[in-house]
Amino acid sequence: MDNPNDIENIKKYLSEKLETVSSVDDISKIRNEFLGKKGFIGKMLSDMRNISSDQRKDYGAKLNLLKIEVENMIDEYSGKFENDKDSIYTELYKSLPGRKPEIGHINIITQAISEITKVFAPLGFNRVRYPEIDREYYVFEALNMPETHPARDEWETFFVDSPNDEKLGRLVITPHTSSGQVREMLKGELPIRMLNISRCGRRQIDVSHVPSFYQFEGLVIDENISTTHLIGVLDYFAKNFFGADRETRLRPYHFRFTEPSFEVDINCGICHGKGCKLCKGGWLELGGAGMVHPNVLKAGGVDTEKYSGFAFGWGVERTYMMKSGTKIDDIRNLFSNDLRFLEQF
Ligand code: PHE
Repeated sequence: MDNPNDIENIKKYLSEKLETVSSVDDISKIRNEFLGKKGFIGKMLSDMRNISSDQRKDYGAKLNLLKIEVENMIDEYSGKFENDKDSIYTELYKSLPGRKPEIGHINIITQAISEITKVFAPLGFNRVRYPEIDREYYVFEALNMPETHPARDEWETFFVDSPNDEKLGRLVITPHTSSGQVREMLKGELPIRMLNISRCGRRQIDVSHVPSFYQFEGLVIDENISTTHLIGVLDYFAKNFFGADRETRLRPYHFRFTEPSFEVDINCGICHGKGCKLCKGGWLELGGAGMVHPNVLKAGGVDTEKYSGFAFGWGVERTYMMKSGTKIDDIRNLFSNDLRFLEQF
């Protein structure tokens, strides 16, 4: 059928054409051939000029109906064809090898926290956590730093904009885990072997400081506790966490909540105390420690005649960075959220 230019034949011609379709392209060619501007129906519409005016209305209505029928026929057919196409892809898809979902790994800081916890566990240290946003009382006052004491400045504290509590003071982001000391004592269970690990905040940022970091705090309170116990525990930690060849030393220091107070150093893992580029003098600073001040014990309701104790509090990230092998030279990298960095650990 070459010239399907009449209403009667055009549908027949279309059915024949549709039988030959084998691709989506064929369908769009047919659509154009029948419904395009210069297609059969378009041409018939423009030929209406030549029809006498009394027949034109009737013929026009028939043509419009035809147009709708043709559209439906093509749509129906292309619908069928699309389904075929889908099922081909579905089969193909089913035969493709599976894609493995990416499995992450524990973040380096979480790894550090669990390693530190494991080292202290055999000594009986009990892992606890206290509020990361707490009242000034626990952060300063109970730790022998009264309201106007200048020592508070060293903690570069973030204050939280919130109502003041008459007795316990303002809300702060805890600048150290020492705020857990008196909270632990107030539980009223003695002796104490506490390991408090939590997030802290201070207003500082450079290669070795970030505003949000972690600390781990040890607190031991029992009868007859002396500096010897403190040294023993620190040495045990150094050897088990950093390696059997590492040693610690204490330097006199000052904290309001310990007396005497110390800064704890560890001998450099690279030069072993001789002095090198990293450590300069052969020793690296770990953090603070000391014998718990009687005023702190009193604030915690502990009988100072019977009990004494020691405490130490160090940065988790800093301590982990000193472990040989980690080779992290800027603490800020830990919080940069760069997967290329984090995936190394
Ligand atoms: N809280 C002190 C700090 O953040 C460290 C410390 C803890 C010192 C316990 C002595 C005893 O610097």
